[in-house]
Amino acid sequence: MNVVTTQHQQDRSLPRPQTLDEFINQRHTVEALRAAISKANQRGIMIDHVLLTGPPGLGKTTLAEAIARELGLPIVSYLGSQFTSPAQVSAVLRYGQGKVIFIDEVHAVSYKALEVLYRTLEDGMVPNLDGRLEKCGAFILIAATTDPQRLPNPFRQRFSLSFHLDYYSEASLATIVNQSAPIMGLTVASESIETIARIARGVPRLANHFLKRSADFAVDNAITPPVVQKFLTTYGIDSSYGLDRLDTGLLTALKRLGGTASIDVLASTIGENPKVISIDREPYLLRLGLVSRSSRGRILTPKGEQVIYQLEKEAS
Ligand SMILES: Nc1ncnc2c1ncn2[C@@H]1O[C@H](COP(=O)(O)OP(=O)(O)OP(=O)(O)O)[C@@H](O)[C@H]1O
Ligand SMILES: [Mg+2]
Repeated sequence: MNVVTTQHQQDRSLPRPQTLDEFINQRHTVEALRAAISKANQRGIMIDHVLLTGPPGLGKTTLAEAIARELGLPIVSYLGSQFTSPAQVSAVLRYGQGKVIFIDEVHAVSYKALEVLYRTLEDGMVPNLDGRLEKCGAFILIAATTDPQRLPNPFRQRFSLSFHLDYYSEASLATIVNQSAPIMGLTVASESIETIARIARGVPRLANHFLKRSADFAVDNAITPPVVQKFLTTYGIDSSYGLDRLDTGLLTALKRLGGTASIDVLASTIGENPKVISIDREPYLLRLGLVSRSSRGRILTPKGEQVIYQLEKEAS
């Protein structure tokens, strides 16, 4: 099977922390991993398998690569959806000795294939070409998913090193922007760093993307407040919360619908797929407290009303 580098390939031009030390935030996760790595190194054994969960862009792939680097082991990366049959998993595990095997979006591994994976995690046995079980060499599995609910419980429980990455604070995102800027050959005014950190929705990938897109408008690679403003205006992003046109359209539609509406009604009003709203848009609006949920649907909160009022005032 082909070894793939997943969507993080698109991020190659973004600075990616190389080591656990460069990995900003997620302090408890990093400390726990560092302790496990150092103990395993002392004892001359492999660390246990690792499960990384959390929303997109928070650093699961970055962390997997940093772990492999700390361990001094090669990493081979796969997408869960590549494993449609048990034979595909067996083939990879048979040749996994001494490697970090990274399976991204592991929830997409087929059920039968996952069974082989379970079994190998449990007793180190893997089916050979004739289907007979053989002991396989020691490897480390790092599994990542944005959707841990879709993993069978027994599979999740096989990971004693299991970490959930959470959204980053503005201060952490500011540190990331500060770290990224010189790598991208940019100088950034402190006010611009603050703005980018504030609108990045708690997501490092977005912070780096916004820095990169601001740079499109920069003169002499200097990211000044007017440069960031130009980026925000061009992309229709508000400077307080990072709401884009779809977010504001959603809030405005909710207001026009009387402040309460079901996802389906809301989606058809703005011509969007209900899934895009509930998976991609709603979580951030809920986190900001602009929208809340009830049995009757989605409700525009007083804070949400205030934000729309402000945005409409700015636009007029
Ligand atoms: N802790 C961090 N410190 C500095 N930069 C980070 C950190 N985490 C992520 N990044 C930046 O964000 C980008 C996205 O991270 P990454 O690809 O690891 O996220 P992911 O959780 O694997 O996302 P997905 O679920 O979409 O695969 C990285 O390329 C890097 O630039
Ligand atoms: Mg990833």
